[in-house]
Amino acid sequence: MKKITILISGRGSNMQAIIRNTQSGILKNICTIQSVFSNKKDVAGLHIAKNLSIPTYVIVSKGKKRKNYNAMLLDWLKQQNPDFIILAGYMKILSPEIIREYPNKIINIHPADTTKHQGLHGYDWAFENKLKTTKITVHFVDEGLDTGEVIGKKDVDISDCKMIEEVEQKGLKVEHKFYSECLREIFEDR
Ligand code: GAR
Repeated sequence: MKKITILISGRGSNMQAIIRNTQSGILKNICTIQSVFSNKKDVAGLHIAKNLSIPTYVIVSKGKKRKNYNAMLLDWLKQQNPDFIILAGYMKILSPEIIREYPNKIINIHPADTTKHQGLHGYDWAFENKLKTTKITVHFVDEGLDTGEVIGKKDVDISDCKMIEEVEQKGLKVEHKFYSECLREIFEDR
């Protein structure tokens, strides 16, 4: 069983889907979630994790120097000693020191094709560019912005979406299923 830590910054719907899949879905007996970490306090995802009996930790990033915050996070991660670190809507950039400590052990989900759009607001980008199909990418995290090795990509048909909210709704539905499928593939393989 792989031990995983999930990093979030907000709503936590991908985190919730992963936790549920470890409890009674396709990740059952494949991984165990040892903790959920957030760089913001009181976000919805923390409440969800607590209600699902997962230990939660917060180090507030706001107001701290990036270097200091990342050093504190690295210390915490070392104590946790996870097999994999899963980013689920974690909106901070991890320092090179953290990434070098965990090569091919940090995984992210990105709401676009990472070769076409990097960074924030993937669904807005797809909607504004009037795409008929967009993609969800699950990838390893390296030192670049959304440049790590791709684990999987999945199409999302958004041709009938009239509003950005519909694009996000459709995309998230795919994310919630696809992320766990990719994680299962990786955890069974390594
Ligand atoms: C998700 O759409 C995720 O793909 C995206 O943030 C959202 C988090 O939602 N991540 C990024 O944009 C990373 N660049 P959630 O907190 O409900 O899982």
